Amino acid sequence: MKPLTGKTALVTGGSRGIGRAVARWLAADGARVVFTYHESKDAADALAAEIGAQAVRCDQADLATLPAVVEPVRDGLDILVNNAAVTHRGTIADLTPADFDRILTINTRFPLFLLQAAIPLLRDGGRVVNISTLNTAVPAPGLALYCASKAALEQITAVAARELGPRAITVNTVSPGATETDMLQSANTPESLAQTAAFTALQRLGQPSDIAAVVAFLSGPDAAWLTGQNLRATGGLLI
Ligand SMILES: NC(=O)c1ccc[n+]([C@@H]2O[C@H](COP(=O)([O-])OP(=O)(O)OC[C@H]3O[C@@H](n4cnc5c(N)ncnc54)[C@H](OP(=O)(O)O)[C@@H]3O)[C@@H](O)[C@H]2O)c1
Repeated sequence: MKPLTGKTALVTGGSRGIGRAVARWLAADGARVVFTYHESKDAADALAAEIGAQAVRCDQADLATLPAVVEPVRDGLDILVNNAAVTHRGTIADLTPADFDRILTINTRFPLFLLQAAIPLLRDGGRVVNISTLNTAVPAPGLALYCASKAALEQITAVAARELGPRAITVNTVSPGATETDMLQSANTPESLAQTAAFTALQRLGQPSDIAAVVAFLSGPDAAWLTGQNLRATGGLLI
């Protein structure tokens, strides 16, 4: 039997990149998968057909879309993966309150209130995995809002691990390093990506499936004793 047979998983941002790889991996492990997308409807429809999943449109900038996200899992949830996020570049000198509201809403506020909505749906022994970033340990100029939004999510994860532990629900962070997705390509030059690969112990950039493997492990039966942790899945970019 597959390790996630009989389990239901909700993955945000499944239409592209890391979230798509996670949705594929959890489905291959036997889970029934519901995933969200924002603008990539064709990609979402294609993935839903490929893995037999349900795609739900959602804009994390708007909390009003939250009820539609949890509706397909109202009968019970075993795995929540808070993956969808946006990056932002701008030095502190240039930031606006609107930038703050947008990034913190999409990357922190929505994941927090999705977790809140999921708590009564999560079955005992469930799993929550929140996706952060290596940049909370290796901050870079121009990433104040992105780093702040993810650092807050990491703290929410740690507190949630304490709060949900009595129900044997584990709550962990996975922090990817440089991983080849649209987000990475849009935020970096080919030269800087080559430098990053060279500085990585395993001498390459991460692939979405590298991250999905770690998320699937944390989502599965063998990770029952890991909670409140931040697994930095970076190929040794930071050691
Ligand atoms: N790639 C990296 O190197 C890297 C490194 C560290 C951490 N991460 C983290 O890994 C996660 C996934 O990143 P990625 O690289 O896979 O990103 P990506 O390729 O840009 O994909 C982002 C996903 O989030 C969805 N999304 C974007 N804005 C949204 C919104 N307002 N509402 C709802 N969904 C929205 C997108 O949906 P649509 O396409 O449908 O619009 C897409 O499915 C993020 O949390 C990111 O911070 C990535």
